[in-house]
Amino acid sequence: MNQVFVTPTDGIAVVQIDNPPVNALSRDVREQLPVVVAQLADDKAVDAIVIVGAGRTFVAGADIKELEEAAWSGGEPPDLHDLLRLVEECPKPIVMAMHGTALGGGLELAMAGHYRVAAAGARMGQPEVNLGIIPGAEGTQRLTRLVGVEKAIELCVSGKPIGADEAKQAGLIDQVIDGDPTLGAVSFAREAVRRGAPHPRTRDRADKLGTAESNAPIFARGLEMARTTRRHQTAPLAAIEAIEAATTLPFDEGCRRERAISAACVRSDQGRAMVHAFLAERNAAKVPDLPKDARPAELKEVAIIGAGTMGVGIAMACANAGLRVTLSDVGPEAVDRGLATIRRSYESSVTRGRLSTEAAGDRLGRIQPRAGFDGCEPADLVIEAVFENLALKQQVFAEIDRRARPDCVLATNTSTLDIDRIAAATGRPASVVGLHFFSPANVMRLIEIIRGDRTGTGVLATALAFAKRLGKVGVVVRNGPGFAGNRMMFPYMYEAQFLAEEGATPEQVDRVLTDWGMAMGIFAVDDMGGLDVAWRIRQEKRGRTPFPPEVERKRGTTPFPANEREPLVADKLVEMGRLGQKTGKGWFRYGDDRRPIPDPEVLNLIESAASSAGIRRRQIGDEEILERTIYALINEGARVLEEGVASRAADIDVIYLTGYGFPAFRGGPMFYADTIGLAAIHDRIAAFHRELGPRWKPAPLLARLAREGSTFRQFDAEPKRTAAPASRS
Ligand code: COA
Repeated sequence: MNQVFVTPTDGIAVVQIDNPPVNALSRDVREQLPVVVAQLADDKAVDAIVIVGAGRTFVAGADIKELEEAAWSGGEPPDLHDLLRLVEECPKPIVMAMHGTALGGGLELAMAGHYRVAAAGARMGQPEVNLGIIPGAEGTQRLTRLVGVEKAIELCVSGKPIGADEAKQAGLIDQVIDGDPTLGAVSFAREAVRRGAPHPRTRDRADKLGTAESNAPIFARGLEMARTTRRHQTAPLAAIEAIEAATTLPFDEGCRRERAISAACVRSDQGRAMVHAFLAERNAAKVPDLPKDARPAELKEVAIIGAGTMGVGIAMACANAGLRVTLSDVGPEAVDRGLATIRRSYESSVTRGRLSTEAAGDRLGRIQPRAGFDGCEPADLVIEAVFENLALKQQVFAEIDRRARPDCVLATNTSTLDIDRIAAATGRPASVVGLHFFSPANVMRLIEIIRGDRTGTGVLATALAFAKRLGKVGVVVRNGPGFAGNRMMFPYMYEAQFLAEEGATPEQVDRVLTDWGMAMGIFAVDDMGGLDVAWRIRQEKRGRTPFPPEVERKRGTTPFPANEREPLVADKLVEMGRLGQKTGKGWFRYGDDRRPIPDPEVLNLIESAASSAGIRRRQIGDEEILERTIYALINEGARVLEEGVASRAADIDVIYLTGYGFPAFRGGPMFYADTIGLAAIHDRIAAFHRELGPRWKPAPLLARLAREGSTFRQFDAEPKRTAAPASRS
């Protein structure tokens, strides 16, 4: 397919790269662009060339799908060397005109041009580090020559793009264009032709490369920054190594060095994991059995019922995305309190320079208080965010049903309750969907979208589009105890508590987990969420389960096997009023800075509970802690997958990466399991089953894949019987 087009404009040829959606440098572009440049170089009617991107952006990078192919096939990643040389050695000046985003391979292409101009709103960067790789198309070599060692390290290690003004100041571009970037680039090209040769080649620049002496402290600071801001990640260190090569080796040799480092990163576990994470996140929106013609409804106004922590966070997330919001609660005081929290949060963003006063005012103005259910009538979407209690939610939904328009989508923000029973409180169960936000809802990127038995496909499509509109990642899961994320959390959290009873300390467990890359240890997570949350679920399980027995049977296992004992200490802590951060004490103690401090009182409690239960405490090694916690997560993940609660292992990975602080460089729990090997994981789990009891029974799916020498990745690629299609609405 033709993806490179030329428009001659009186001596200046405008070359347009047109490879939607983001003009990635895919195979066709890589083949066509050199042919076009070579032809124009020979064309006597052409004095200069301008290269632009079609549509919303310049080139946003190498084609990540091709990178993935190379990573798994062991083949070479796409090589742009010949193309870049051709561009740089073109006898006619080439001006790169950037708009939208010029990222990765896109910026590398631009840096091979003789001149670069950018629209005022353009963003430029080397985000490869977010994919576990480094700029591999000579980017580290040219960037260092254009902007110097310090800025090159900053761009490659942070992965954050910069705006046009900053790029100009740094020497990355020659001019910021106000107005149409192509027109601006054409007149820039005319001026370059008028000035005449020589036209600068980036490879020849040496003025910013520094000396060994001047660079040494810069590299030391860069390495320090990489180790602290990107803990455990190898790509940032590799990028710095390649930048160092730019300062010590001639250009071509530096490029060869960079290519070798880059290829190793592409094939590394971290590279594969982070590319997997990028693509899995985008695939999450492509729900296997959602018909292509399922159209999302247009959303303008959202009514939020419940002005507690979740309601407030959701209201801000909606207002930040430009939606009109009404916020209501039973009494005006609750709404006032909610609005005051929102005001304080926006004010603090302004004070920290993250938001302008006008933007904060605009967002605040989008959130209107309402009494009771008054916001429901005009709303396109109602989100219920009241206290997590089934009877209460059913009452609220019955009232929403009476008031909302027939085409309104009715969503419940629940983390545990049965969506079908909530939907049954309305006369329109097809309009009901679960939106499980994570706290703080204005910050956390994940929304678990819970599909009830009767949720309509249009409603599901609307929920997915809504998540995207909020800049979040929506992952569709089926109804069932704890859905996917929290259900997996229980065995993980409980195993940590069993380890503590057997001789580890909460501090040791959390250290092992954070050293491994988890954003927080599991005890600290429990303290942050509140120990009363799991306590309430246990209470309900003992007496009134949130899911009736027939649902439990239909959905398979409950979050925790009924024949297994529960951890000994968690309930005692709750009874002592140690609910976690909110009471200043939980598994740990907390000072003003909210850092967890080990508490001897808790250790004594654990020891005495263990001794009364006849548990002989022993020294527990870090490796055992890691295996028992993470493998518990994986084993339950396999069940979630087998039961169809999640439709793909990759979806579970996205849930854990975006909602539970799982380290991106490990690709998510299921991807990580593949990297260890399912047979090895299965064998450990089977051994735990023998030693520790029925909770460790290997999930049948894990056992099957291990036996077949397969992986969760292959399981995702297996053809599936799709579940019965949901009703249309
Ligand atoms: N190669 C292949 N596909 C890419 C791509 C790339 N470099 N960058 C984005 N895409 C695809 C996405 O997979 C998505 O595909 P889909 O519509 O089939 O789901 C589509 O382009 C839109 O991307 P999305 O991220 O959903 O859009 P956005 O507007 O939020 O963000 C970007 C656009 C370019 C900022 C963002 O996609 C991005 O950061 N891309 C990666 C850039 C990068 O790392 N480049 C270096 C690669 S070496």
